[in-house]
Amino acid sequence: MFDALKSLDAAAQGRTIVDLFNADPDRAQGFSIRAEDLLFDYSKTTIGAPEREALIALLDTSGVAAKRDAMFSGEKINVTEGRAVLHTALRNLDGDPVLVDGKDVMPGIKQTLARMDDFADRVRRGDISGVGGEPFTDVVNIGIGGSDLGPLMAYVALQPYADGPRCHYVSNVDGAHIADVLSGLNPLTTLVIVASKTFTTIETMTNAQTARAWMLPKVGQEGVSKHFCALSTAKDKTADFGIDPDLVFGFEDWVGGRYSLWGPIGLSIMLAVGPQRFAEFLRGAQAMDTHFKTAPWAQNLPAMLALVGLWHNQVQGHATRAVLPYEQRLARLPAYFQQLEMESNGKSVAMDGTSLPFNSGPVVWGEPGTNGQHAFYQLIHQGTRVIPCEFMVGRSGHEPNLAHQHELLVSNCLAQSEALMRGRSLEEATEIMRKKGFEGAELDRQARHRVFPGNRPSTTLAYEKLTPFVLGQIIALYEHRVFVEGVVLGINSYDQWGVELGKELALALQPVLAGDKDGADKDGSTRMLVDFLKV
Ligand code: F6P
Repeated sequence: MFDALKSLDAAAQGRTIVDLFNADPDRAQGFSIRAEDLLFDYSKTTIGAPEREALIALLDTSGVAAKRDAMFSGEKINVTEGRAVLHTALRNLDGDPVLVDGKDVMPGIKQTLARMDDFADRVRRGDISGVGGEPFTDVVNIGIGGSDLGPLMAYVALQPYADGPRCHYVSNVDGAHIADVLSGLNPLTTLVIVASKTFTTIETMTNAQTARAWMLPKVGQEGVSKHFCALSTAKDKTADFGIDPDLVFGFEDWVGGRYSLWGPIGLSIMLAVGPQRFAEFLRGAQAMDTHFKTAPWAQNLPAMLALVGLWHNQVQGHATRAVLPYEQRLARLPAYFQQLEMESNGKSVAMDGTSLPFNSGPVVWGEPGTNGQHAFYQLIHQGTRVIPCEFMVGRSGHEPNLAHQHELLVSNCLAQSEALMRGRSLEEATEIMRKKGFEGAELDRQARHRVFPGNRPSTTLAYEKLTPFVLGQIIALYEHRVFVEGVVLGINSYDQWGVELGKELALALQPVLAGDKDGADKDGSTRMLVDFLKV
């Protein structure tokens, strides 16, 4: 599948990104896309016109357009679980009906959204309160994976718009997490959201029990039901937990966990910023959906972002990519993308069960700039491995009185991609060190340490300002990027069987650690560690 592209890449060895700019002064315009409030610049990669043409051909041979339309129209493209993939329906607020098994799902989605709006409004106004009549000042979202990473990421990202109760997120089964969060809170003014698609996830159910035990002495058995709500597909299980059915916001199994922040799982975001801003967030995603469905491939942002990813990983063999938002409020975006990309496309079996003949999705990692510059950029600039970088930066921040800091932020972001591309030659480094007074063998030695190989690829996603609308666009962009990469690779991006084995073994090990069962069937290493760690 990637052979033709690999040949193109091999034939272009020795031609640098700087060469491409020298040959085509308008390269930046030709290798960038403007869509809505976004500008995606992929000109600082080694992709030229023939490479782009061959990459776009991949979309056609893989049938991406037909599969995209199948996804949006509710076909069961998640074949290993027999489910539709319809997170896009959650933001299809003024679109056509979407049918699953012949039934339009839009009325149900709109009804749930209206209930969320009403609930959020009333909590924010103080009309819904705790048992003591005091308004809820704090919300604790208990969830993990997709029931945590998306809401937490968006809550942090949208802080300038947060005028509702403070939100806190508990995910880890490590008791330290919930202990630290609850220690600063008053049960009488705290609303607990138990967020779990399945309502079986051990971490979430354990933390939910801990939160209930914490709350009980202060609010009493009756009161607990006023302080707990649930977000789940499993109404029977929320009832078993004792959650008032009026406080359950349900969704369907065709919303994947890591794609679920657009619906009930996003309730904490809505409580924080209000229903109107949450609707703007949905509208941003909807705008990206429309763009993805209608823009020709060469101008299609998710498609080109995906093709750049495939070029770097499957064609050039770069196993990781760094996500580097120059936006402190996107601090949790890399973690969110880790689940979105790695749980979706970290598979080694194709749809038909055969082994993938090429690498699956890349390792995704990152931190906000400029912090990362003072931590791991050394390796990105001078290490022996090439790490394609995905920079993100906004034209303006939310702090007009700190515009000078924003300028510094932007200049750092642009400087990094420039430095990665240009590098610094031995001649240039030698000249610099000569001016500092070095000479002879010491000059050469000192200069060599200051050489930057350059020709290191990066993309930049620039946006106007991190509003709810823009955040919605960015998240939907990456969702669709994952979809396109998954289709080209021929894998199912919507299951996650790879998380199951560890869960099963953890359940089997717990009684061994508790001393209720011997671990004779375990390997020597596990037995030794159990012996050491057992209390
Ligand atoms: O273990 C992985 C996973 O199933 C994720 O896909 C999901 O986002 C997370 O666990 C949490 O699942 P749930 O929302 O059902 O608690």
